[in-house]
Amino acid sequence: MGTITLTNNQTNESFEFELIDCNRGPQAVDFSKLFERTNIFSYDPGYGSTAGCKSTISYIDGKNSQLLYKGIPIEDIVEKYRFTDVCKLLLTDSLPKDKTESDEFDLELRHRGFLHEGLVNIFQAFPDNAHPMANLSSAVAALSTFYFEHRDMHKEEDYQIMARRIIAKITTLVAFSYRNSIGAPFIYPDINRSYVENFLYMLRAYPHGKLKHTLKGEQEITPLEIEALDKIFSLHADHGQNASTTTVRNVASTGAHPYAAISAGINALWGAAHGGANEKVLIQLNEIGDVKNVAKFVERAKDKNDPFRLMGFGHRVYKSYDPRAKTIKNLKNELDKKGIKMDHRLSDIAEKLEEVALSDDYFKARGLYPNVDFYSGIILTALKIPVSLFTPIFVIGRMPGWCAQLIEHVKDPTTRITRPRQVYVGK
Ligand code: CMC
Repeated sequence: MGTITLTNNQTNESFEFELIDCNRGPQAVDFSKLFERTNIFSYDPGYGSTAGCKSTISYIDGKNSQLLYKGIPIEDIVEKYRFTDVCKLLLTDSLPKDKTESDEFDLELRHRGFLHEGLVNIFQAFPDNAHPMANLSSAVAALSTFYFEHRDMHKEEDYQIMARRIIAKITTLVAFSYRNSIGAPFIYPDINRSYVENFLYMLRAYPHGKLKHTLKGEQEITPLEIEALDKIFSLHADHGQNASTTTVRNVASTGAHPYAAISAGINALWGAAHGGANEKVLIQLNEIGDVKNVAKFVERAKDKNDPFRLMGFGHRVYKSYDPRAKTIKNLKNELDKKGIKMDHRLSDIAEKLEEVALSDDYFKARGLYPNVDFYSGIILTALKIPVSLFTPIFVIGRMPGWCAQLIEHVKDPTTRITRPRQVYVGK
C-alpha cells in the first residue's frame, strides 16, 4: 500500500490516489475515482498503461521472458501436462491429481464434443471458400441459440458447464469450419479418441471415418503429432488482458450470453496484429522465398514509408524473447529430429530472419523479438494443417483462457460494465 499525489498545475490542487497491492509485477494506482474527484479523465489509447481488472489466471513478465499459468511457468506446463489438464487448471484452479482424473476430464470433454444437427445445417448454409474464422465466430454465436440454460456465471455449476461445453465443441466447430470451407463432408467426433487426436481425426478422415492408409501401413495420426499439437494448444491457453480476452470481458460485462462474448473474442483474435499473425507469418515467409532475400525484407520492415511489418515480431508486453516462441522454436527442432519433417526452406528463412533482425539496431532499440506466432506455422504445416486453420488453432488453445477470464470478470464484484470515456475534439 502507498499513495501517489497528482498535482494540477493549472489550479494548484493536489489529490492522493492509493496504490494497489499485487503479487507480482508493477503496482497500479487506483484511478477509478479520478474523474469523480478531479473532473479529469486519464487518456491512454490502446490501454498500454491501464489495468482493466484484477486477475489470478496468467502472469507475464515482459522484461524477463516469463509466462505463468496459475503460478506455474509455461515451460513446466508444456513439459509435464497435456492441454486438457491445462483446461482443468484454468477452470478449477487445480490440476488433475493423477492420470485417472486427467483421463476422466478428457473423456468428459469428448462426450460434450457433438453438435446439435441444427448447427450442422447452419454450417451448410455458409458459402464455399469462406475463411474458417468467419464460419467459426458465426457458429459460436449460433451456439447461443441452442443453449439458453447454464448462463448464470455466478453459479459454479452453470459456469463449469458453459465452459466445458464450448471447450469440447470448439474442436468440432473448427474441423467443420474448415471442411465446409473446402466443400468436404463433415466427420463427426469419435468418442474413442482423445481430445487432441479426435481433432486431427475430424480434419483428416475420409467419409465413413476411415483414415488414409499409406503404402507402408503407417498409423495416420501418430502419438508424436498428437503431442506436438497438444503442446501448441497449451502454449496459447491464456495470456493476460490481450485484445481478444479484453473483448470477451467487455461483452460479458454487459450481461450478454457467454457464447456471444466468446464469439466476439474470436473476431478480435482474427486480426493480423493479434492471432491472425500466425497465418500471415507463413504467407510472408513464402513471399521472402529464400534466405538471400531476408536482409531486403528486414530493411522494408524498418522503412517508415513502407507499411510492411515483420509478422510474428514484436509484442505490447514482451520487450524480451517471448517464452512461448522459444518453446515453439525448440519444439520445431525436436520434432524435426524425431521424424516430423519441417519445411527446411521456410524454417531456414525464419531462423535467418530472426538472426538478422535481432542483430539490427532498429529491432534492438524497440525490443522486438519473435512472438508466439513466428514459428508455430512451420510446425502446423509439418502437421499437414492448412494455413487458413492456423488462427482457428489459436482459438482452440485460447478457449480455456477466455472462459476462465469471462467467469472471473462476471464473478468479481468490483467490475462494472466497460464504459471508457473520450476526449472530445469534434465540432
Ligand atoms: N515490424 C517492424 N516494426 C515493428 C513491428 C514489426 N513487427 N512491431 C512493432 N514495430 C515498431 C513500430 O513501428 C514502432 O516503431 P516506432 O516506435 O518507431 O513508431 C515500435 O516498434 C513499437 O510498436 P507498436 O506498434 O507501437 O507496438 P504495439 O504494442 O502497439 O503493437 C504488435 C504490438 C504485436 C501489434 C506489433 O508489434 C505488430 O504489429 N507485430 C506484428 C504482428 C504480430 O506478430 N502480432 C502477433 C502478436 S503476439 C500473439 C498475440 O498475442 O496475438
